[in-house]
Amino acid sequence: MTNPLFRPFTLKGLTLPNRIVMAPMTRSFSPGGIPGDDVAAYYRRRAEGGVGLIVTEGTGIERTGSVNDDAVPNFFGAALPGWGKVVTETHAGHGLIAPQLWHVGAAINRENKNPPEQESPSGLFKPGKPWGKAMADSDVADAIAAFARAAADAKRLGFDAVELHGAHGYLIDQFFWTGTNQREDGYNGATIAERGRFAADILKAVREAVGPDFPVIIRISQWKQQDYGFKVATSPDEMIEWLGPLVDAGADVLHCSQRRFWEPEFPELDGEEGLNFAGWAKKLSGVPVITVGSVGLSGEFIAGFGGEASQPASIDNLLERLEKGEFDLVGVGRALIVDPDWALKVRDGRMGELKDFDRSALATLV
Ligand SMILES: Cc1cc2nc3c(=O)[nH]c(=O)nc-3n(C[C@H](O)[C@H](O)[C@H](O)COP(=O)(O)O)c2cc1C
Repeated sequence: MTNPLFRPFTLKGLTLPNRIVMAPMTRSFSPGGIPGDDVAAYYRRRAEGGVGLIVTEGTGIERTGSVNDDAVPNFFGAALPGWGKVVTETHAGHGLIAPQLWHVGAAINRENKNPPEQESPSGLFKPGKPWGKAMADSDVADAIAAFARAAADAKRLGFDAVELHGAHGYLIDQFFWTGTNQREDGYNGATIAERGRFAADILKAVREAVGPDFPVIIRISQWKQQDYGFKVATSPDEMIEWLGPLVDAGADVLHCSQRRFWEPEFPELDGEEGLNFAGWAKKLSGVPVITVGSVGLSGEFIAGFGGEASQPASIDNLLERLEKGEFDLVGVGRALIVDPDWALKVRDGRMGELKDFDRSALATLV
């Protein structure tokens, strides 16, 4: 039987040579917001290492406070030529690449001594924790336009797709979350569909900017950095209410972020071996999905930030689920930080050559 990770997958006009997606990972190696040749070479190594689709680190749209770290890349102005180089290098390495377009909203970077002015739906980092300012109507409209401009720039620069960061408690997710969205306008309401209007408006504007054939991915998560146990949707019905409008607005792929991909989303309905978040998203929305979270590693990434090391782990369970069609594509994060050749090694069965991850790996661009 062939390894299902290495079957091609077609997304609109784009054919990925395999199912491996490099997960977006902030590296903070772009001083002044500008990605340099070292960043381009880093992505090229992953292309040469056989990754099916690279999603770049989160990259800031043109709004003050879209990023809260000076070394995180922008996706506008003086940063765009650097991104052009990233595309050229990735394509020279026979890879495909999408930028992750990001606005952090009121997410706090505790190491940033000079935080820019930050904005969010209601000026809250989390319930009871005010941070930055609440967005006026004109700020919301401008942020939507800035996402669309960035998507148009991505297409013009030759990227193969775009991803919107709608997960992990950043701006778009701060609109989804009742804990941070207390607005009294059309961007809030009792239902998740109402709180999803910001994301849907961005998707519509992005779709308008890139046309019907360019793949648009949105990353979503139930969990938030502010509250790991939170669930935006507590039932399949709520999930339909959440995801349906995103797909109708132009999302081609749902990138479903979990910290551990094997965790069932609604075990009360289909048991401890039940469908994961991506599995339910696929079943309920009908569009292709990416799963992610501790693929090929023993520990998960938040504990990894805290200093816990992870060792290579079996991917048999992942392959069985992929074979059954629970999800279509597989996001791989830290394993690709330590090893640009992870995909080639897995393809060739060189499992003994896979590497450990620990946070010291974040200090360099290998
Ligand atoms: C160093 C690092 C930076 C990350 N930055 C981002 C980011 O910019 N955007 C995002 O959506 N997720 C980000 N993540 C989450 C990863 O995309 C991924 O979901 C997570 O690491 C789980 O995958 P893994 O267990 O294979 O590492 C980051 C993770 C790490 C380890």
